[in-house]
Amino acid sequence: MKERILLLHPGAMGASVGAALHGNGHVVRWLPAGRSAATASRAQDAGLVAAETLAGALAEVEAVISVCPPHAALEVAAAVAGQGFAGLYVDANAVSPATATRIAGVVGAGFVDGGIIGPPAWRAGLTRLYVSGEEASRVAGWFEGSPLDARVVTGSASALKMCYAAYTKGSTALLLAIRALAEQAGVSAALRAEWDISQPGLGDRSERSAAAAGAKAWRFAGEMREIAATFAAAGLPDGFHLAAAETYHRLAPLKDARQVDMKAALALLAGGGAGDEGAAAADGP
Ligand SMILES: NC(=O)c1ccc[n+]([C@@H]2O[C@H](COP(=O)([O-])OP(=O)(O)OC[C@H]3O[C@@H](n4cnc5c(N)ncnc54)[C@H](OP(=O)(O)O)[C@@H]3O)[C@@H](O)[C@H]2O)c1
Repeated sequence: MKERILLLHPGAMGASVGAALHGNGHVVRWLPAGRSAATASRAQDAGLVAAETLAGALAEVEAVISVCPPHAALEVAAAVAGQGFAGLYVDANAVSPATATRIAGVVGAGFVDGGIIGPPAWRAGLTRLYVSGEEASRVAGWFEGSPLDARVVTGSASALKMCYAAYTKGSTALLLAIRALAEQAGVSAALRAEWDISQPGLGDRSERSAAAAGAKAWRFAGEMREIAATFAAAGLPDGFHLAAAETYHRLAPLKDARQVDMKAALALLAGGGAGDEGAAAADGP
């Protein structure tokens, strides 16, 4: 069944989700109000239809899919609910099961919990959207045959995303913090040499960590807090991911940097702020 869907908002991941829906024949709207030129350009490339207002967009769709920074997920849901929208609402963000439950409470009965794993879905085989809840198979059906592999999961899709990112983004934060510590202690070269002997591949992974996470660290901080809350709610230690949140928070000045080198990231982690040298290195040539 072809549906009319409002996508909030077409970021790097959201645009690929919108393109997958558009490619499958669904009509996908987006809301330019308050968004940047980069979002507008992604929306246009993905074939999305701009709406003037949230109320106007909601009047013309059966469903909303939220793909936004995790720290904004509840606010986005509240704005939609504030318009009296009674259709299907998919939250596809990296939020804790508790936040997902709060969002469900705000948007009402038509809630589907989701979590995306993998890079923006431009090629088949790389990215999964896990969905759970009563209407999960309706949502999975939207993406059949598209580059985004949508799968219905038993249990909470948010919990699955939290468990997955707890390791991937949590371990990247740990490596960055270790590199900062080694730098301050003056043992960076010796640590790298020891890793090369006893932990093959770890030195190279740590080398790539700043480039991989730096520009998105501002968004990862909120995700790490959601993961910490998920551990706490399960009676497990939450300190790993609270520290990861602080690590990414310190890297937030690197938002949208075209290139991030390790030196700039370590300067920020050491608490010295971006500084002129860090900013220049982060922005690249
Ligand atoms: N990127 C990935 O590889 C990836 C992988 C797995 C899961 N995800 C999930 O996908 C979601 C979004 O990721 P993304 O890569 O699309 O992020 P993104 O590229 O940073 O884009 C975020 C989008 O949300 C908008 N936005 C920014 N601040 C906002 C706010 N306070 N309230 C509402 N909207 C706001 C941005 O608009 P403007 O910038 O124009 O203001 C942009 O359109 C996250 O929940 C993330 O966990 C992403």
